[in-house]
Amino acid sequence: MNKKTVFSGIQPTGNIHLGNYLGAIRNWAARQAEKVNYFCVVDLHSLTVPQDPAQLRFETRSLAAVLLACGIDPQASTIFIQSHVAAHAEGCWLLNCITPLGWLQRMTQFKDKSARQESVLTGLLDYPVLMAGDILFYDADEVPVGEDQKQHVELARDIAQRFNALYNADFFVVPQPIIPKVGARIMGLDDPAVKMSKSLADKRGHAIRLLDEPDEIMYAFKRAVTDSGREIRFSDDPEKAGVNNLLTIYQAVTGKDNAAVEADFAGARGYGDLKMGVAEVVIETLRPIQARYKALMDDTAELDRLLAYGAEQARAVSQPKVDEMKGMMGLVMPG
Ligand code: AMP
Ligand code: TRP
Repeated sequence: MNKKTVFSGIQPTGNIHLGNYLGAIRNWAARQAEKVNYFCVVDLHSLTVPQDPAQLRFETRSLAAVLLACGIDPQASTIFIQSHVAAHAEGCWLLNCITPLGWLQRMTQFKDKSARQESVLTGLLDYPVLMAGDILFYDADEVPVGEDQKQHVELARDIAQRFNALYNADFFVVPQPIIPKVGARIMGLDDPAVKMSKSLADKRGHAIRLLDEPDEIMYAFKRAVTDSGREIRFSDDPEKAGVNNLLTIYQAVTGKDNAAVEADFAGARGYGDLKMGVAEVVIETLRPIQARYKALMDDTAELDRLLAYGAEQARAVSQPKVDEMKGMMGLVMPG
């Protein structure tokens, strides 16, 4: 069987939360054997907006350690840091030289982000070309992304097709965006009408971050917004969105069906018991992940070894692809 190739890029912006884990990372880990997987911590993308160097360095390794701790297996997947593989930046230049400026100027994320900044960096405009290279240099068939990144994957398709047409070759695979079906969609604990999100996660009580201490997790669940009733059941009534979210989290973590989840809380005296019950299973689920994370961050030699191994695997695929592009585009290969 010919396995499909999947490329996932994740920015090291910190604040990885329970929604990211239950909605994405956990599924990636569970399905590693079915595909050829690349997990790339896209530190070069983070440079498109101003960063504190020490912070970026920490967040980059921290995210790699989180992914490994969540079960991304370096034997089953290639996990690496984007800047460790020079083909990404080098190949981006080559793609820049076949990408019309107008294609980048009409990207909605660029328009949104640049409108919010006084000084817009060239890298911000070029961001989708770097991303196209990430995908194309690995011949990825599938790119799992949220709705907000779909336009960038479509641009990668356009760039692939343009290159193939210009050089009259079937050189790049034209990738597909894979938008996850609404599975476990985890809402904010402080406001069950909005999605739990990284950008709101600095607000205490909004999110459960994967690295939060048990006390902090307990605090956030205890303060979770519910309603004035006392019925503990799944419901799509907006009034009961808070209770529904707590049950959804409990269900995603335990894997039980609706009836079994409701039965677990049948004897509850009120929402306090529900919150406590959910907090406990979440704390227990995160405990081994946090222990593995801590071990990796304490032994950075091992973390660096795993990432060097990943970078080597990634380089072996992407560098020959970029070298071939250079030849096609008329550059003289070094003798
Ligand atoms: P982001 O945090 O937007 O970079 O998203 C990274 C991945 O986590 C995406 O695949 C999202 O689908 C998933 N994700 C983010 N927030 C949630 C959430 N609140 N519930 C479920 N999945 C989420
Ligand atoms: N732009 C993506 C985001 O912010 C991250 C990313 C960079 C990416 N390169 C990628 C995602 C390649 C998928 C494939 O979420």
